[in-house]
Order: sequence, then structure tokens, then C-alpha cells
Amino acid sequence: LKIFCGNANRALAEEIVDYLGVPLGEAKVKRFQDGETTIAIDESVRGADVFVVQPTCNPTNDNIMELLIMIDALKRASASRITPVIPYYGYARQERKSKARDPITAKLVANLITTAGADRVVTMDLHAPAIQGFFDIPVDHLPGVPILAEYFKVKGLDNVVVVSPDHGGVQRARNLAERIGAPLAIIDKRRPEPNVSEIMNVIGDIEGKRVIMIDDIIDTAGTITQGAQVLMDRGAIEVYACCTHPVLSGPAFERLEKSVIKEVIITNTIPVHPEKMIPKIKTLSVA
Ligand code: R5P
Repeated sequence: LKIFCGNANRALAEEIVDYLGVPLGEAKVKRFQDGETTIAIDESVRGADVFVVQPTCNPTNDNIMELLIMIDALKRASASRITPVIPYYGYARQERKSKARDPITAKLVANLITTAGADRVVTMDLHAPAIQGFFDIPVDHLPGVPILAEYFKVKGLDNVVVVSPDHGGVQRARNLAERIGAPLAIIDKRRPEPNVSEIMNVIGDIEGKRVIMIDDIIDTAGTITQGAQVLMDRGAIEVYACCTHPVLSGPAFERLEKSVIKEVIITNTIPVHPEKMIPKIKTLSVA
């Protein structure tokens, strides 16, 4: 067993090898003057069962190329099995044509990873679970919910309702609700254009309740902060937010800071720069 990583989330890879009690594989990502990437694998991998920890988060294109080039290098060095561990699978939100001439990037990236030489994939909370089927190799699709549920169980909040910020996230919210023994409510959201969210209605009873909103991704934080505001306006007494993937781009930190949300629980599938961190964000490890 050998575990390598690219530059996307070295801290997570280090936590994983510490947990397993194995050293992190010796590899370097190098850049040529013209911006091209190359990888130096500095130890033998002949016949080894190799895992590569590399979420394809921002800078997404660079991180995808690092992963593909590392798989290629490992394959050409005769590794017996190569498993990319992609805690956050980027480009997943373009998983179907929603209008004429749209690309399907989730499938394109799956093709690239498979063609590069991956034998199976480990990933977490794909934006659409059907993306598993975009790969013709086995995919281990792990949920973040058990880790988030454990946090809330230990916290021991009473009078709680779990809220999905949109219809697409109902299954995930129900999973969390069942694990912590809480009822479920749903925000009926319409999204007029990408990164702009509009709240329409709340289905379920949230009045006088502590709310835990759960999403797969917090990106610009528009969905979660607007949802939280609507829930407070309609009588919730406190709102917590949680997600597996803290994409946190653009105005996300400012929005979360200024929002009515009491605490934001994220995982470390994507690293967050310590300088950007705000006190109300708590990070749980998926290592
Ligand atoms: C959308 O369907 C996803 O589940 C998230 O709700 C979305 O990506 C969050 O984006 P933002 O934080 O930019 O509103």
C-alpha cells in the first residue's frame, strides 16, 4: 500500500497516512516555465497498490491535470492498482445538459481519469449520485453525513429540525435527520441563473425550532445564507449550517460572517486557507 498526493490537499493526505501509520509517498509536482505540469515519483511503485489523494477543487484545472499526470506516471511505473481518492469531485455541477449545446463536464472528467489509468475511484458526496455511473470502473461513494451527524449528536441540541436548502438535497437531509432523530423540512428554491438563488417557500414546520441546514456544497454561500434568513424570518430560533464541501468562493466568507447563521460546520475535503477562516466556521476531518 502506498499513498501519494498532489498539491490540492496535502494536509488531508498527511492526516490519512498518520491514521494508517504509513509514510506519505515521495513525489513532487513541478511546473515548467510555460506553466505545464510534470510529476516526479521519487520511489518505486512497481507492483504496489497505490492511492492518490487529490480533490479536484480550486484551482480545479491545475488539480485535475496534477491528478491525471500522477496517474499516468504511476501506471507507466508499473503500479499494480491505482485508486484516486477525490474527496471533492470538481466539475460535478455540469452533470447533464440543461439547455442546448451544454457540455457535460462531470462525464468528461470521469473519462479523463479512467483513460489516464485509474482502476477505481474513492470520492465523497458527488453533487449528483448518478455521476458514479459516468465511470466504467468501481466508485466508492462515501457520505459526509455520518461525520456531521456525530458532531450534532455530541453537541446535543434540542428541538431541532433538519432543513434541505433545495429539493435536490432532500435525501442527504433525511439521512442526517434520521441519524440525529429530528424531523425534516425543505426549502423550495428556484435558481434563476448560476450562483444566484431565490427562495420560494418552506415546506415543513420550523417555527420555534433550532434548524440545521445541510448542503453538499457551500460555494458563494448565497443558497445557505438566504435560506437561513428565510427560516429566521419564519420563526426559527437558531440556524446552523453544514456541508461536506467548502468551496467557499467569491463573497462566501463575508456572507457567512454577516449572516444569521450561528455556526457553519464544514469538512476538510477542500482545504480552507487559515487566513480566510472566520470564528463561526468549524472544520471536521474526513481523514
Ligand atoms: C446546488 O444544487 C448545490 O447543492 C449547492 O446548493 C450550491 O452549489 C451552493 O452554491 P452557493 O453557495 O453558491 O449558493
